[in-house]
Amino acid sequence: MDSLELLSPYLFRYKGRNFVVQKGLKPKDLDAFLHVDVRPTDVYLITYPKSGTVWMQQILAEIMDAAHPDQVEDCSNRVRVPFLEDRCLDKVLGERPDPRVYCTHLPTNMLPHGVKTKRIKVVYVMRNPKDVLVSLYHFAHSWVLLETPKSFEDFFQDFLDGNAFMGSWFDHVREYYNEKDQMDILFVRYEDMLKDLRGEVVKLCAFLGKDLTDEAIDHVVEMSIFKNMKTIPNANYLELLEKQFYQRDTMRKGVAGDWKNHFTVAQNEYFDRVFAERMSDLPLSFTWELKQ
Ligand code: A3P
Repeated sequence: MDSLELLSPYLFRYKGRNFVVQKGLKPKDLDAFLHVDVRPTDVYLITYPKSGTVWMQQILAEIMDAAHPDQVEDCSNRVRVPFLEDRCLDKVLGERPDPRVYCTHLPTNMLPHGVKTKRIKVVYVMRNPKDVLVSLYHFAHSWVLLETPKSFEDFFQDFLDGNAFMGSWFDHVREYYNEKDQMDILFVRYEDMLKDLRGEVVKLCAFLGKDLTDEAIDHVVEMSIFKNMKTIPNANYLELLEKQFYQRDTMRKGVAGDWKNHFTVAQNEYFDRVFAERMSDLPLSFTWELKQ
């Protein structure tokens, strides 16, 4: 039987993943996710943390608004595209109107069985892991439920060792890639959205079977651009900042290549070695920086 391992006062490990102690999720709650009701029309947004989750929540919410105008809701994306891991949402999980969109960082072995058996649409957003590391480092200074890193060096090593929030980035991406044929999954790269947001929205609409007009697609894009999202409280988790769960704006920089401002040359070489060891057998490519 799998058991819980306490990593620190902030994180515990269960089935190889690291969860936040103070969120109150217990192994039995995590196991219960396997049996969450899944409907054929459900859409799941899945990410490793800091890969563009909030961005994709906004894009999906806007696509659903355009495709189902009778169901437009004026409320936070935390409600529109709820996290499975948010316990408070357990009771309302089944009460969302169809088509429901959920969001999760859970690994493949903890996903509701129905995600695979019902072959629902899954959108998996991935981002180059150097920027994920940096974004998570800053987020660990922001979210009060995470331990503030002692130093960037410490955090860098923790990330590579799979000791950060949600465990190893390498495992998360690998598992989803390896199980892609068992799911109806679209992989979206954060940096591709930065390069051509409209093009990615068009691909998403085709995948989701949502036939939007050009004007509607333009609107989705407009509402999802970084500088605009920063001003939309329903999209940018402002309430968590106001309630002081977050100490810093989660819409931090939104660029590709910020790792260059944080990594030393030695750290970068080390990261590249680990990345090659862990990922070179997969046909995945990442964009490490983009000119702004
Ligand atoms: P940075 O910390 O590098 O700025 P998540 O939502 O998975 O937690 O990811 C957070 C990251 O996505 C943050 O990265 C945040 O700035 C970025 N982000 C959020 N909305 C974005 C947008 N509209 N465009 C580009 N990046 C965005």
